[in-house]
Amino acid sequence: MIRSVVRGYGAALPKRAVANRELEGVVETSDEWIVQRTGIRQRYIAGEGETTASLGEAAARAALDKAALTPADIDLIIVATSTPDNTFPATAVNIQNRLGMTHGFAFDMQAVCSGFVYAMATADMYIRGGMAKRVLVIGAETFSRILDWKDRTTCVLFGDGAGALVLEAAEGEGTIADRGVLTSHLRSDGTHKEKLYVDGGPSTTGTVGHLRMEGREVFKHAVGMITDVIEAAFEATGTTAEDLDWLVPHQANRRIIDGSAKKLGIPSEKVVVTVDLHGNTSAASIPLALSVALDDGRIKQGDLVMLEAMGGGFTWGAVLVRW
Ligand code: ACO
Repeated sequence: MIRSVVRGYGAALPKRAVANRELEGVVETSDEWIVQRTGIRQRYIAGEGETTASLGEAAARAALDKAALTPADIDLIIVATSTPDNTFPATAVNIQNRLGMTHGFAFDMQAVCSGFVYAMATADMYIRGGMAKRVLVIGAETFSRILDWKDRTTCVLFGDGAGALVLEAAEGEGTIADRGVLTSHLRSDGTHKEKLYVDGGPSTTGTVGHLRMEGREVFKHAVGMITDVIEAAFEATGTTAEDLDWLVPHQANRRIIDGSAKKLGIPSEKVVVTVDLHGNTSAASIPLALSVALDDGRIKQGDLVMLEAMGGGFTWGAVLVRW
């Protein structure tokens, strides 16, 4: 049985870190309010010349280095993003070009904060279907560019960055002891559109638009949706919260993360939290968090790792990986 095994990882952040205190001069807010409600202490904001594609390229190069591979070894690039460099062509094709690749194929995936789990599930399908052997799965965002910097209810929450994994086809036994993606569960429900969306687009306003959010409404649905897909992943594999070595959630907000872990009975020592460092980087948050926990030695080969996310749409999903 073919499995999609993680062979390398990488991350990239803009040069400029912006602490909560700095935002006190932008909107009426405070470090205390932001930390208490969200757990965020700082975020990185892209400067001149830094774009979704440049950050994605840097993360991809770091992942290739870790995997001891070159762009020549890759046959598919999937970029999860809601903040592409251009409406088209896809940022994935832009990154393919930046990597000097004219072979293989590349496309973007748009599922907002759930983008990375959607991209992982999709890459796994291409690998298991035999259409790709090595896939660069990238989550890259520059949300700072779609924020309304006069709206304190949203602008303090988000940041920019990118992370990448290299997935590679490998033979497995078909058991949960196999390394690689074990199961993926994706969901969406468009009835929630108005709770989290961007108020512009090429086919409506002809503008890029700004992010709009009813924070309380998002919060109300988040924990239930997240725990549903995680429970589906446990059920599909016959595993439980006790078998899990790490939960690596989308980093939107400390209270959502803690609430989900508590409901699932996952102790906080097994939860990777980086929202304090990066803010909410949408599709980039999971690979950025993975990068931190792999660099500091928490996540090791053989560990059972649950990735989960929920975001605009709503979209939500979970991917269970034996590292
Ligand atoms: N600084 C200071 N005060 C603020 C700020 C701010 N940045 N933003 C809002 N306030 C004020 C509000 O105006 C309100 O004041 P009022 O009582 O005088 O009207 C007060 O704080 C409370 O506002 P609420 O919106 O009720 O605050 P809440 O406790 O719900 O926290 C938050 C807001 C953090 C957005 C919360 O609802 C939340 O975490 N929601 C989840 C949203 C989220 O994480 N979205 C990320 C994208 S989706 C995803 O990735 C899953």
